Amino acid sequence: MSDRKRVAIIFGGQSSEHEVSRFSAEAVLRNIDTDKYDVSMIGITKDGSWLSYDGPISLIGTGEWQALAESREKSQQVLLTAGSAIAEAEKDNKKIDVVFPVLHGCNGEDGTIQGLFELAGIPYVGCGVLGSALGMDKAYAKIVFEKEGLPQGKYLVYNRKQINSEFDSIVSDVELTMSFPCFVKPSNAGSSVGVSKVHCKSELKDALLLAARYDRRILVEEFIDGREIECAVLGNDEPVASTVGEIIPCNEFYDYEAKYMSGDSSRIIIPADLPADMIDQIRDYSVRAFRALDCSGLSRVDFFVRNGTNEIIINEINTMPGFTQISMYSKLWAASGIPYGELIERLIELALERFENNKRDIDN
Ligand SMILES: Nc1ncnc2c1ncn2[C@@H]1O[C@H](COP(=O)(O)OP(=O)(O)O)[C@@H](O)[C@H]1O
Ligand SMILES: [Mg+2]
Repeated sequence: MSDRKRVAIIFGGQSSEHEVSRFSAEAVLRNIDTDKYDVSMIGITKDGSWLSYDGPISLIGTGEWQALAESREKSQQVLLTAGSAIAEAEKDNKKIDVVFPVLHGCNGEDGTIQGLFELAGIPYVGCGVLGSALGMDKAYAKIVFEKEGLPQGKYLVYNRKQINSEFDSIVSDVELTMSFPCFVKPSNAGSSVGVSKVHCKSELKDALLLAARYDRRILVEEFIDGREIECAVLGNDEPVASTVGEIIPCNEFYDYEAKYMSGDSSRIIIPADLPADMIDQIRDYSVRAFRALDCSGLSRVDFFVRNGTNEIIINEINTMPGFTQISMYSKLWAASGIPYGELIERLIELALERFENNKRDIDN
């Protein structure tokens, strides 16, 4: 029997990061070692339909894959559940050994799809249900970071309803705790969607209402005047951290435009120009954050280094970070000795290892 493994790459998804996912998936498909792995592709459209796809990889990033998948007789059927999508992809004896959900944001990186794979009994790349859910929910991740003793900025959490019913007390809380400028963001979102820098009191309400469009819970954070430093973590029970990199956003902060639309005018510097002891400290915090949230496979942990004091402050963790060949996560590992193709292979192996480790007596 051949020990070749069949990997299902899932891309797209019902998330504000649908496009980013398609680029990440296209890069994975171009670089996965096809001497070692057979590959199936499953795309999730923005309206949540699952389609098995066997067309050119080059049409995934552009979005043209969808029309082709829908027009093909074989893929006419709109697949509504993971179970049926996987069954379709497994037709003709193509049993799927492991799933790589190259999905960012809500419905892909937040534990929901991970729950589906758990129920289907299929190994999958990345964090499990708990790690994904905690990593996605910034307000909850902060509770765990605090328990772990990781340094954070000041923050407040509100729910959508409070914006109108308790606005005056929100204003006084903010003025008392951190004042202006501050940052307002949805607790669950990504790619800076719904994130605002609030320069003064008069901008607060609109920022809260914007964030509330993306999530029921909203964070207000102290503005950290600092550099943005990121670190990649890889592994399961014994995770390791890469070197660290710095992002130099081209806009006032690292907003959606600075991340994806301004060509190469936002810059990445690897390794970040920081003293060795600070790099080690950030790497140590990254592994501790990964462990505290019960992550597995991969995560990118993002920090600020405060101007003036050089204080290290954890910002957030991303359990399925941007994963093209030129994304920070891949570049950090390339600079730390693991090229992109090998990274993909390690992640697949980690998925299989985790699946074995998670087996319980009751499953037998
Ligand atoms: N408290 C803060 N102080 C200063 N800048 C911030 C703060 N929070 C977020 N930012 C800026 O906004 C960007 C996006 O916020 P982040 O919390 O990382 O959300 P996302 O999950 O959307 O990436 C950050 O990369 C940074 O540029
Ligand atoms: Mg971020």
